[in-house]
Amino acid sequence: MTAPTTTAPARGRTHPGWWQEAVIYQVYPRSFADADGDGCGDLAGIRSRLGYLRDLGVDALWISPFYTSPQADGGYDVADYRAVDPVYGSVADADGLIADAHALGLRVVVDVVPNHCSDQHPWFHQALREGPGSPLRERFHFRPGRGADGTEPPNDWISLFGGPAWTRTTDPDGTPGEWYLHLFAPQQPDLNWDSPAVQDEFRSILRFWLDLGVDGFRVDVAHGLVKAPGLPDLGHCEQLALLAEKRVPYFDQDGVHEIYRSWRTVLEEYPGQRIAVAEAWTDTLDRTARYVRPGELHQAFNFKFLNASWDADQLRELVALSLDAMRAVDAPTTWTLSNHDVVRHATRYADGDPARGVRRARAAALLMLALPGSAYLYQGEELGLPEVTDLPDEVRQDPSFLRPDGGNGLRDGCRVPLPWSGAEAPYGFGPVPGGPAWLPQPAAWAGLSVEAQAGDPRSVLELYRSALRVRRSHPALGAGRAVEWLDLGPGVLAFRRESPEGALICTVNTAGHPLPVDGSALGSLLLSSAEPPSSIAAGNAGNAAGGAGILLPADSTAWWQAP
Ligand code: NOJ
Repeated sequence: MTAPTTTAPARGRTHPGWWQEAVIYQVYPRSFADADGDGCGDLAGIRSRLGYLRDLGVDALWISPFYTSPQADGGYDVADYRAVDPVYGSVADADGLIADAHALGLRVVVDVVPNHCSDQHPWFHQALREGPGSPLRERFHFRPGRGADGTEPPNDWISLFGGPAWTRTTDPDGTPGEWYLHLFAPQQPDLNWDSPAVQDEFRSILRFWLDLGVDGFRVDVAHGLVKAPGLPDLGHCEQLALLAEKRVPYFDQDGVHEIYRSWRTVLEEYPGQRIAVAEAWTDTLDRTARYVRPGELHQAFNFKFLNASWDADQLRELVALSLDAMRAVDAPTTWTLSNHDVVRHATRYADGDPARGVRRARAAALLMLALPGSAYLYQGEELGLPEVTDLPDEVRQDPSFLRPDGGNGLRDGCRVPLPWSGAEAPYGFGPVPGGPAWLPQPAAWAGLSVEAQAGDPRSVLELYRSALRVRRSHPALGAGRAVEWLDLGPGVLAFRRESPEGALICTVNTAGHPLPVDGSALGSLLLSSAEPPSSIAAGNAGNAAGGAGILLPADSTAWWQAP
């Protein structure tokens, strides 16, 4: 076990828990870096790029699942929670990666997938083999079917990947048998968290990785583990409406909190502030806050922020609601714009105009990094990568796309391997020019590679590097619970962050055109996502604000050293 060598940040204030202000970079291992040239990223690849992450200026990496898995859902179908899939390497590689990261001052957070396992997990195999009545079946949700011959699913729940949330099994004698529940793909049977064996197993899995030195866990489908007693039916039409709001008997049930209280106890057995962050989709921020009450998990993703439109009023309201909800439970807020399940924000914000998408993505990054709390970055956003929207059907692997009645299944478009260098695919993702990549990269990505952007002050990469450098050294950035809102007129989101050693003002113009504001109280410019805001001569007709007029460029964010 190793510990990060740099636990104290460069800032001159008392350091809170590292996680309260950490910038955490999500690595999707299949698509980050491929050391062995098989077209699929691996742990050795991540290890070889840790220096890049250190130089980028992040505090930690969260690595999506690399455990033994048939990859029916990109590794979120785990067959062995204590082993590394050979595609990614070995436990020794994971050990080496953690040690290397710690030596560079980077923390390592790994995924834990407790809602379901793989249908190739030994427990599930054995449960099928032993047939109805086997105690192994208690660890899953097996039920007889409805109708005369049990041909109908036990209830009307639908899978998030499309189709019924139930699949019928075949008994050992070859006759049709019970059904099992899977909220996701049929290859991902849901575990039954009423089972003490399941509870014990996951505490033991946490300890396995904590013993290896990980600094924390991202908890997959944290809101899904407990199902309402009796697995009640809903009625189809009503269910679709409720699904949208996540108020369904398989999500956000109060019983999940007892699990996280027990996990917190495990985390606290270990030195060095080990943490857990919940992937919990809930219908309100107050419900999200319940996952981070004292004695539960440390953080929860803020998906309301991720889903917000590029609009000053909406963003202000969401930031305020987020801060209030988390303050009520004394927890830090988190912010994130993208992950491996959503359309990349450079494309989400584009409204059909890629240049606008990049402009807004740059501005959104500076907004996010100026807010109090912790920020999660998704690999490639620091390069301004767009979503790949034209992948041919035959290369797609999102299980939802592959289900006949699945959803849009578009999650492959944000998982295309990263471009690192060179003019020929896979652009340094793998070791050999012209070598394979599990998803094809667009030709235009040669110009977006790390190599192409490094050193170019106009690049997205250098903007992130600068922002993370300023964030590290500025006393008003990072942790904290409050912002002071400033009114600079319609279309502008502006706030001030105070600290005894200096204050910072952040201004965001979400309008698609420059906006004049009163700049007299802004101070000196520290960083801008666009060309520097320009001064407007007093009396200029465009200077609606009067006084020391400043023109904020369209779709831009600026950080100011406040007077
Ligand atoms: C959320 C993960 O982020 C997603 O990729 C996965 O498909 C589902 N959980 C199921 O594990």
